[in-house]
Amino acid sequence: MKLGVVGGAGLLGSTSAFLAGMKGYLEEIKLLDVKENLVKNHVMDMAQAIYSSSDTKVTFAQYKDLSDCGAILITASLPERKVANRLEYLWDNMNIIKPVCESIRENCPHQPVIINATNPVDIFNYIIWKELGWDRKKIVGFNGNDTYRLKWAASIVTGKPFSDIDGFAIGEHGNGQINLYDKMTCGGEPLGLTGDEIEKIESITANFFSEMNALNSGRTSGWTSAVNIESIIEAVAKDSGRVLECSAVLEGEYGLKDVSLGIPVAVGAEGIKEYRLPELTEEQAQRLEKVSEAMKEIIREARSA
Ligand SMILES: NC(=O)c1ccc[n+]([C@@H]2O[C@H](COP(=O)([O-])OP(=O)(O)OC[C@H]3O[C@@H](n4cnc5c(N)ncnc54)[C@H](O)[C@@H]3O)[C@@H](O)[C@H]2O)c1
Repeated sequence: MKLGVVGGAGLLGSTSAFLAGMKGYLEEIKLLDVKENLVKNHVMDMAQAIYSSSDTKVTFAQYKDLSDCGAILITASLPERKVANRLEYLWDNMNIIKPVCESIRENCPHQPVIINATNPVDIFNYIIWKELGWDRKKIVGFNGNDTYRLKWAASIVTGKPFSDIDGFAIGEHGNGQINLYDKMTCGGEPLGLTGDEIEKIESITANFFSEMNALNSGRTSGWTSAVNIESIIEAVAKDSGRVLECSAVLEGEYGLKDVSLGIPVAVGAEGIKEYRLPELTEEQAQRLEKVSEAMKEIIREARSA
């Protein structure tokens, strides 16, 4: 599979491309960015580095070159800035995402899978779906850091190995993240978290973004995002059906529609293969509905502006 990266000179685009390239399952990675010299620098450097491990080619791209890509990763955005909430990035990136969609629609009539990371990711995932007008299953939003951080925090708090822990966060990539503690397992058995452990994990996952953002470094979580974005790229390239938390446009799942939220989905060559909906408690379902209403309101505002 050939992968296009729109925003390929930036942190997420370049780190994800590099990780996928080093693993060797892609035929070609095509980097596109408005910063043309910087992206050409990445192409020269990355192509050379990846040569040590794989045959994946790395090339400079314009939109016309993306027509044969099986997937396009969108990470285009204004530079990171200090915010209280990822939703504040909406107006930064609105004027970027719409023209990006227009160019993809014009140049990619075969409708590749779109992996969108640009924040606020759930809102843009929905907007991208509307702008492109393709099957909703083709539009896969990157929310995987939430589930990853839930497992990471659970491992730190319980002392159990990260690789044995399973579970999912769902909902918004932001304050409306819902950690499904009751479904978490370790080595296939219920993890059985205590109230005290849940409180600690909740605090770690809820505060991670604000702690990192308070550093005002102009940089976000590039390495963690690369690890989790690469999982989506690999699932598409290999048509693996791996179940990952992604932002998905909902049309009746959990009784919700006209919104995109993080849920576990099986990912393959055509995007979302299956919606794998864990059964929710009444409290979890109510929280999800509340998050959905809040997201819909923002989508309405964004689309009518
Ligand atoms: N979904 C998640 O879990 C998650 C995690 C971390 C970051 N993010 C988001 O991902 C996005 C990218 O983050 P980053 O750290 O890579 O940012 P970055 O500033 O390092 O990179 C963004 C790149 O987009 C490019 N760009 C801007 N406008 C463009 C356009 N019209 N066409 C093509 N390229 C364009 C910029 O030149 C830049 O190279 C941000 O919105 C960030 O908030 C999401």
